[in-house]
Amino acid sequence: MSWTRDTLIAAARDAARSAYAPYSNFHVGAALGFADGSVVTGANVENASYGLTLCAETVAVGKALSEDWRGGLEAVAVIGGKAGAVGSGDPVTPCGRCRQMLNEVAALGGSDPAVWCVGKSEVLELRLSDLLPRAFGPDSLG
Ligand code: THU
Repeated sequence: MSWTRDTLIAAARDAARSAYAPYSNFHVGAALGFADGSVVTGANVENASYGLTLCAETVAVGKALSEDWRGGLEAVAVIGGKAGAVGSGDPVTPCGRCRQMLNEVAALGGSDPAVWCVGKSEVLELRLSDLLPRAFGPDSLG
Protein backbone atom coordinates (compact mmCIF):
# COMPACT_ATOMS: atom_id res chain seq x y z
CA MET A 1 0.00 0.00 0.00
CA SER A 2 1.21 3.47 -0.79
CA TRP A 3 1.38 6.47 1.47
CA THR A 4 -0.91 9.48 1.34
CA ARG A 5 -0.43 12.97 2.75
CA ASP A 6 -2.25 11.93 5.91
CA THR A 7 -0.34 8.68 6.43
CA LEU A 8 2.99 10.39 5.77
CA ILE A 9 2.17 13.02 8.36
CA ALA A 10 1.09 10.29 10.77
CA ALA A 11 4.40 8.49 10.17
CA ALA A 12 6.32 11.69 10.95
CA ARG A 13 4.28 12.20 14.10
CA ASP A 14 4.96 8.63 15.17
CA ALA A 15 8.68 9.00 14.44
CA ALA A 16 8.83 12.06 16.70
CA ARG A 17 7.98 9.74 19.61
CA SER A 18 11.45 8.24 19.20
CA ALA A 19 13.28 11.55 19.26
CA TYR A 20 16.33 11.71 21.49
CA ALA A 21 16.16 15.35 22.49
CA PRO A 22 16.94 15.67 26.20
CA TYR A 23 18.62 19.07 25.78
CA SER A 24 16.11 21.07 23.74
CA ASN A 25 13.12 18.92 24.68
CA PHE A 26 11.95 19.73 21.13
CA HIS A 27 10.91 16.52 19.41
CA VAL A 28 10.86 16.35 15.63
CA GLY A 29 9.79 13.59 13.26
CA ALA A 30 10.26 13.42 9.52
CA ALA A 31 8.89 11.00 6.95
CA LEU A 32 10.12 10.60 3.38
CA GLY A 33 7.62 9.25 0.87
CA PHE A 34 9.08 7.45 -2.15
CA ALA A 35 7.62 6.70 -5.57
CA ASP A 36 7.55 2.96 -4.87
CA GLY A 37 5.27 3.54 -1.88
CA SER A 38 7.98 3.22 0.72
CA VAL A 39 8.27 5.50 3.72
CA VAL A 40 11.52 6.18 5.59
CA THR A 41 11.31 8.06 8.87
CA GLY A 42 13.71 9.83 11.19
CA ALA A 43 13.72 11.66 14.50
CA ASN A 44 16.14 14.20 15.88
CA VAL A 45 19.16 12.89 17.76
CA GLU A 46 20.88 15.28 20.15
CA ASN A 47 24.22 14.96 21.87
CA ALA A 48 25.82 16.19 25.07
CA SER A 49 28.10 18.07 22.70
CA TYR A 50 25.17 20.18 21.54
CA GLY A 51 26.50 21.14 18.14
CA LEU A 52 26.58 17.53 16.99
CA THR A 53 22.78 17.34 16.93
CA LEU A 54 21.22 15.60 13.96
CA CYS A 55 17.84 16.84 12.80
CA ALA A 56 15.01 14.44 12.03
CA GLU A 57 15.19 15.11 8.28
CA THR A 58 18.93 14.47 8.23
CA VAL A 59 18.49 11.20 10.10
CA ALA A 60 15.80 10.14 7.63
CA VAL A 61 18.02 10.99 4.66
CA GLY A 62 20.92 9.10 6.23
CA LYS A 63 18.71 6.06 6.73
CA ALA A 64 17.38 6.23 3.18
CA LEU A 65 20.72 6.64 1.44
CA SER A 66 22.32 3.96 3.58
CA GLU A 67 19.48 1.59 2.73
CA ASP A 68 19.94 2.08 -1.01
CA TRP A 69 17.20 4.53 -1.90
CA ARG A 70 18.31 6.65 -4.83
CA GLY A 71 15.87 9.30 -6.00
CA GLY A 72 12.13 8.76 -6.21
CA LEU A 73 11.56 11.16 -3.34
CA GLU A 74 8.05 12.57 -3.83
CA ALA A 75 7.12 14.08 -0.48
CA VAL A 76 8.46 14.91 2.95
CA ALA A 77 6.43 15.46 6.12
CA VAL A 78 7.90 17.27 9.12
CA ILE A 79 6.33 17.79 12.51
CA GLY A 80 7.75 18.97 15.81
CA GLY A 81 7.19 20.58 19.14
CA LYS A 82 7.95 20.32 22.81
CA ALA A 83 7.61 16.83 24.22
CA GLY A 84 3.93 16.08 24.66
CA ALA A 85 2.95 18.92 22.35
CA VAL A 86 4.28 17.78 18.98
CA GLY A 87 2.35 19.43 16.17
CA SER A 88 0.60 21.93 18.41
CA GLY A 89 2.60 25.00 17.44
CA ASP A 90 3.73 26.72 14.28
CA PRO A 91 4.69 24.53 11.32
CA VAL A 92 8.28 23.27 11.55
CA THR A 93 10.20 23.98 8.36
CA PRO A 94 13.46 22.12 7.64
CA CYS A 95 16.63 23.92 8.66
CA GLY A 96 19.14 24.92 6.00
CA ARG A 97 21.32 21.85 6.40
CA CYS A 98 18.32 19.56 6.12
CA ARG A 99 17.17 21.28 2.93
CA GLN A 100 20.54 20.44 1.43
CA MET A 101 20.39 16.87 2.70
CA LEU A 102 16.91 16.39 1.23
CA ASN A 103 18.08 17.87 -2.05
CA GLU A 104 20.70 15.15 -2.42
CA VAL A 105 18.09 12.36 -2.45
CA ALA A 106 15.68 14.33 -4.61
CA ALA A 107 18.32 15.31 -7.16
CA LEU A 108 19.35 11.69 -7.68
CA GLY A 109 15.90 11.09 -9.18
CA GLY A 110 15.29 14.56 -10.59
CA SER A 111 12.24 15.16 -8.39
CA ASP A 112 11.07 18.29 -6.61
CA PRO A 113 9.34 16.81 -3.57
CA ALA A 114 6.44 18.37 -1.74
CA VAL A 115 7.43 19.38 1.79
CA TRP A 116 4.53 19.27 4.22
CA CYS A 117 5.28 21.23 7.37
CA VAL A 118 2.73 20.45 10.03
CA GLY A 119 1.45 23.02 12.52
CA LYS A 120 -1.49 23.24 14.88
CA SER A 121 -3.92 24.86 12.49
CA GLU A 122 -2.28 24.49 9.12
CA VAL A 123 -0.06 22.28 7.02
CA LEU A 124 2.31 24.42 4.98
CA GLU A 125 2.55 22.86 1.54
CA LEU A 126 5.86 23.80 0.04
CA ARG A 127 8.22 22.51 -2.63
CA LEU A 128 11.85 21.73 -1.91
CA SER A 129 12.82 24.06 -4.76
CA ASP A 130 11.06 26.91 -2.95
CA LEU A 131 12.94 26.15 0.25
CA LEU A 132 16.26 25.70 -1.54
CA PRO A 133 16.33 27.57 -4.84
CA ARG A 134 19.35 27.15 -7.14
CA ALA A 135 20.52 24.21 -5.06
CA PHE A 136 24.02 22.82 -5.24
CA GLY A 137 23.66 19.13 -5.98
CA PRO A 138 25.28 16.06 -7.49
CA ASP A 139 25.21 17.61 -10.98
CA SER A 140 27.03 20.71 -9.79
CA LEU A 141 30.28 18.81 -9.50
CA GLY A 142 30.57 18.48 -13.26
N1 THU B 1 15.27 20.11 14.51
C1 THU B 1 14.95 19.11 13.60
O1 THU B 1 15.05 17.91 13.91
N2 THU B 1 14.53 19.49 12.37
C2 THU B 1 14.36 20.79 11.97
O2 THU B 1 14.04 21.02 10.82
C3 THU B 1 14.57 21.87 12.92
C4 THU B 1 15.20 21.50 14.21
C5 THU B 1 15.70 19.71 15.85
C6 THU B 1 17.15 19.93 16.14
C7 THU B 1 17.16 20.02 17.65
O3 THU B 1 17.29 18.71 18.19
C8 THU B 1 15.79 20.56 17.99
O4 THU B 1 15.00 20.42 16.82
C9 THU B 1 15.80 22.01 18.42
O5 THU B 1 16.45 22.79 17.50
